[in-house]
Amino acid sequence: MNVKRRPLLITFEGGEGSGKTTQLKGTNQVEGFYSWFVKNYGEAILLKEPGGEPVAEKIRDILLSKGNSISSMSELFLFEAARSQLYSSVINPSLRNKLSVLCDRSIDSTLAYQGYAGNINRELINQLNYEATSGRILDMTFIIDVSPEIGIKNAKKSKGRGTSRIDERDIMYHQKVAEGFREIARNNPKRCVLIPYVDGIEKVQDRIRGEFRSRYLVKF
Ligand code: TMP
Repeated sequence: MNVKRRPLLITFEGGEGSGKTTQLKGTNQVEGFYSWFVKNYGEAILLKEPGGEPVAEKIRDILLSKGNSISSMSELFLFEAARSQLYSSVINPSLRNKLSVLCDRSIDSTLAYQGYAGNINRELINQLNYEATSGRILDMTFIIDVSPEIGIKNAKKSKGRGTSRIDERDIMYHQKVAEGFREIARNNPKRCVLIPYVDGIEKVQDRIRGEFRSRYLVKF
């Protein structure tokens, strides 16, 4: 039976080295959530923020290049500019065309990094997030909760010398990011699922699929 399902907008969030990108894309051994989602729910595209679209990719380069000195407000506006570009040209049109969207980071990263860790007013960030997404509401958000000590070690191992301007911030900054994500999960219990990071990609993947299945695939 060909079941027509509502297109969903799902985001994956977490601090550096939380493994969210691996959870989405998978490895040679473990199928990622994106491919599992397409088989079990319906057609979808996989995107990332900042980026996912030519202008937003250019903004990503500016934001992440280690040589660039960027004020905290400029940084916020650049993330929001990249977001506005991606939502207006890719995400919102895709959802209108009945295509689900899975996105590696989005609005909660700005709250956690620029807000909780960067001390920019969170009301302002909420307002800019609203404008940049044209008020699009997320259906579900997985937040992978990794301790910064482990996460930064993972990120350094996988990125080598390719770490970014933001990866390089001190451990206190990354602690605040992690606490911010936990608070976002507490404040949005219907939308957000906090998934504890554990060693072993498969265990985290099982947990993610289980949470998704219980919300969208179980028939009542
Ligand atoms: P990543 O694609 O490797 O996760 O890199 C994106 C970096 O940008 C990561 O350090 C988190 C950071 N970031 C913010 O600080 N604010 C944001 O709004 C977003 C989307 C990402």
